[in-house]
Amino acid sequence: MTVAVLVGMQWGDEGKGKIVDLLSEDMDVIARYQGGANAGHTVVINGEQFILHLVPSGILRENKVCVIGPGVVVDPTALLDEIEELENAGIDVKGRLLISPRAHCILPVNKEVDRANDSRKSQKKIGTTGKGIGPTYSDKSNRIGIPLHYFFDRERLESAVAALIERKNVIIEHQLGGNTTTQKEVVDYIMEVAPRIKPYVGDTKQILWDAIASGKEILCEGAQGTMLDIDHGTYPFVTSSNTVSGGACTGLGIPPKNINRIIGIVKAYTTRVGEGPFPTELKDETGALLQGEGAEFGATTGRPRRCGWFDAVVARYAVDVNGIDEIVLTKLDVLDKLEKIKVCVAYEVDGKRLDRLTDNVAVLEHAKPIYEEMDGWNSKIAGATDYSELPEKAKKYIDFLEKISGAKIKIVSTGPDRNATIIR
Ligand code: GDP
Ligand code: IMO
Ligand code: MG
Repeated sequence: MTVAVLVGMQWGDEGKGKIVDLLSEDMDVIARYQGGANAGHTVVINGEQFILHLVPSGILRENKVCVIGPGVVVDPTALLDEIEELENAGIDVKGRLLISPRAHCILPVNKEVDRANDSRKSQKKIGTTGKGIGPTYSDKSNRIGIPLHYFFDRERLESAVAALIERKNVIIEHQLGGNTTTQKEVVDYIMEVAPRIKPYVGDTKQILWDAIASGKEILCEGAQGTMLDIDHGTYPFVTSSNTVSGGACTGLGIPPKNINRIIGIVKAYTTRVGEGPFPTELKDETGALLQGEGAEFGATTGRPRRCGWFDAVVARYAVDVNGIDEIVLTKLDVLDKLEKIKVCVAYEVDGKRLDRLTDNVAVLEHAKPIYEEMDGWNSKIAGATDYSELPEKAKKYIDFLEKISGAKIKIVSTGPDRNATIIR
């Protein structure tokens, strides 16, 4: 029996989709525990690309059960579009996808509020995905949100929408200068999507508890990454959920004692979308090369991703805060053309060396990376499937990252395709 959690170790887009798909072969249930359609998880199977936003990447494997837990925020329109796209591609979703009735609904109005908030002059720009994530989690914490089970209780829904809209309209009218909405408009929207969502709503925790009791294999799929965690990331430049491994327990209702495998995913370099500190960012031609070779454009918003060297301070922090016992190193092939490769091993802050990430995240804004430089392998490893195919210099890089991060690198990814993978 395994209950594994797979978590991004950086600022997201580490290649979680590819690796969840890969590991799903040996899993029975794949479960999303936080976030929403802000995520963009790419899977490539024999050249065919799928981008998943809400549905767990395990859906691409036949007969696997996929779960969206109470910790996720669900945009019904985005979900229905995604299901339709999958069905059109010949993937069976009905009967294999179950969403918790406790998951909160992202209303269209919250996408507007999200976008408007992020362009306010008085507030630091976060560069959100504009998918309504922050406002919806805020409403949930404020106890004015709309969990999916309200969809099927008209009276409760109407009173909850009325209370929510009263607050939203104050914000829209007095702060955002947009068009206010009405209770009817929101209820009509929900009544339109509810019957189509209904077949997918059910008791997800029981599925997970039964799977645990019968010794099945569960993979919890994290979205975003450790540094975007609301409590442990680079606040305020974070998303609004607990992306770390602990989030799998609260986001799914799995007891901590049942989690027995924690897999961290890390890119062979670093990327970040949106605003916020990024000590190893490269604004030069090397950064441009990483962006080009790695095709670093957001899978959700299409925004170019900022690129930089591998940050071992971040990786070590991710190992500690998540309890990572094995690492998957992705996109190693992106470094194929480099003569020299740098790894940030510590920061210099106000003339002092800092080996560990500080809780005062503002420090990262002026932290200077201390680098160790290594020789690049400067040859093509893209598509390699066996460790023996790697040049010595690539093996040396892997060994160095493993040692400095503090957990075994068990899988190395050498291309977007499911098959471009080395299991060590
Ligand atoms: P996620 O959000 O963590 O699932 O990652 P994304 O899908 O947003 O971004 C990762 C991108 O890198 C996608 O376009 C993947 O197809 C691609 N990718 C994943 N692994 C590799 C790899 O090992 N090499 C290369 N070149 N691309 C990869
Ligand atoms: P996956 O799962 C990379 C970033 C946004 C922004 C911040 C807050 O594909 O790795 P939000 O819309 O969540 O309120 O935005 O978080 N962000 C991501 N960056 N990958 C993601 O998901 C992200 N989801 C959110 O760019 O900086
Ligand atoms: Mg992504």
